[in-house]
Parts: sequence; structure tokens; C-alpha cells
Amino acid sequence: MTATNTYQQVGLEIEPLHPALGAAVRGVDFRQLLSPETFAAIHAAWMDHLVLVFPDQPVNNAQQIAFARMFGNLETHHQDIIKSAREPEIFRVSNVDDDGQLMEADHPTVAQISLAQRWHTDSSYRPTPSMGSILHGLEVTDEGGETCFTNMYNVYDALPERLRNAVGGRKLCHDFGHLADLAPIKPLTEEERAAMPPVWQPMCRRHPKTGRTSLYISPIYNEAIEGMADDEAVDLIAELTAFAERPEFVYRHRWSKDDIVMWDNRCTMHRVMPYNLAKRRVMHRATIVGEGPVIAA
Ligand code: SIN
Repeated sequence: MTATNTYQQVGLEIEPLHPALGAAVRGVDFRQLLSPETFAAIHAAWMDHLVLVFPDQPVNNAQQIAFARMFGNLETHHQDIIKSAREPEIFRVSNVDDDGQLMEADHPTVAQISLAQRWHTDSSYRPTPSMGSILHGLEVTDEGGETCFTNMYNVYDALPERLRNAVGGRKLCHDFGHLADLAPIKPLTEEERAAMPPVWQPMCRRHPKTGRTSLYISPIYNEAIEGMADDEAVDLIAELTAFAERPEFVYRHRWSKDDIVMWDNRCTMHRVMPYNLAKRRVMHRATIVGEGPVIAA
């Protein structure tokens, strides 16, 4: 499609959803090609609000991927159980398998997906963590299953001096393999383990676009802090997590079918609320590769 009159023009309606983060964006249709101006307006809104909700976007996987690729390359997950067999750039956040069958609640894949009920930021275990994620709700739950987001700029700004001093200049270990300590997930193959060795990331990071500093933790993958005894590190991670989930920092998103929600992994954390695993929940995620290693603040 090259004719400029096939592009959507700007005219976005942006409605903040919470004082800390989150805005609903209307006036865009991801089934069509976005004009550079519309893309720029979405990007600016994303930097301001950190989490954007686009209601009523009945896209297919290819259209979701095309939108996500406007921001950068996309990750392919290193585990076959998570990545879509048909579109490897789709991360299946779902208790329904690739053939449409509901999995048992004790299925190892469901155990792994359910770990997202703990706070995290996507792909923090990669040397270059993800910039942002774009999640499409295909089948959503009536009760539970909301996704909560916390503004880690505000968390950093509000940290009491004792905690600021504890995290300043420190590095935290992010280890994908830690998931196996938390739940009975499918054991990682040698190849999967080798693909994602633990990485050490600064606990305070500077956002490459906004220049703002945020606290950078991803508790689902964290257990060790450089230069700190193990039990002290576990206690500090727990204390920081409890601080970050205070209601003043958190927007809780109740899903409607065909919502698209995008978040910035560089300055937010998220978690999904528990839901009845006997009910289907099918979400497709496109995960944007980061622009480079984490910048220490
Ligand atoms: C995720 O952690 O990427 C998924 C969040 C959700 O299932 O709502």
C-alpha cells in the first residue's frame, strides 16, 4: 500500500485512566496502515502515559505484528510451548493450546502462564530486555484476569532515602531459570537454559527516550543482588515489590474482548490477577526488542 490517501490521519482522542499511568486511545484502527503522523502521536502518548489501551481492535495476528513492528524488531520466545506455532512472533499468554483446546489447570504451561500473577517486566532476563509489549485480548474473563500496571518512575521518585541508598549503584540478577523454582513448569531443555543465562541489570535505569529514572526490578526473575547476602537480597526485593504495588502507583485494567493494551517495559511492571482456570483466556502478545542494553542511572 503506497498511496498516501490509504493512511489513517491523526485525530486521536486520549483519555487518562489513572493519575499515575494509563490512557485510553480512540480514533485509530489497527486493521489499517498508520500514517507517520498517527504513529508519532501514539508514540508521544505512550511516553506520557506509559500504558495505552486501544478499545475495540479486532485485528488478526498479522495486523498486530505489523503495528508492533513500527516500534522495532520483535522477540521470538525461546520456548516452543509459549510461542505460536503459526506466527513465532506471537507469545501466547493463554490457558488454551495452539489447537484451541483448554488445558488442565495443572498443565505445566498453565503453571508457567500463571506465574505472570507475580510482578514482572517482560524479558528482563535478556541482555537487551524488551522495550514494550502489545497484548490483544481475544478471549477474556468476566471475573479476575485484570492486568495491573505500576509506574516505576513514580515508585523511584517516592522511595524513602533508606531504599534509595539500598538500590543506588547496585545490580540485580534476572534469571529466567528462577521460574522453575517458583512453579512446576515444564523443565527447561539444555538449549533453552543455554539460550537465557542469568544477566545482571542496574536497579536504577534511565529511560532512553524520556531521560527519566525508574526503579528496575522484575521480581519473578530476581533473587540475588550484587554484593548482598542472599536473605538480605530476598527481603529487599520483597520490600521494593510491596512498595511498588501501592494503589497510588497502579492502574488495573479490566479487559473487554478486542482491547489492545501496550506498555513500556522500561518504566513499568505488570501482573495479571488470578482468574478461574476452567474459563478460557486467550491473549496474544507481540514483544518489541529493546533499543540496547539497560542504561544505568
Ligand atoms: C504478561 O505478563 O505479559 C501477560 C499479562 C496478562 O496475562 O494479562
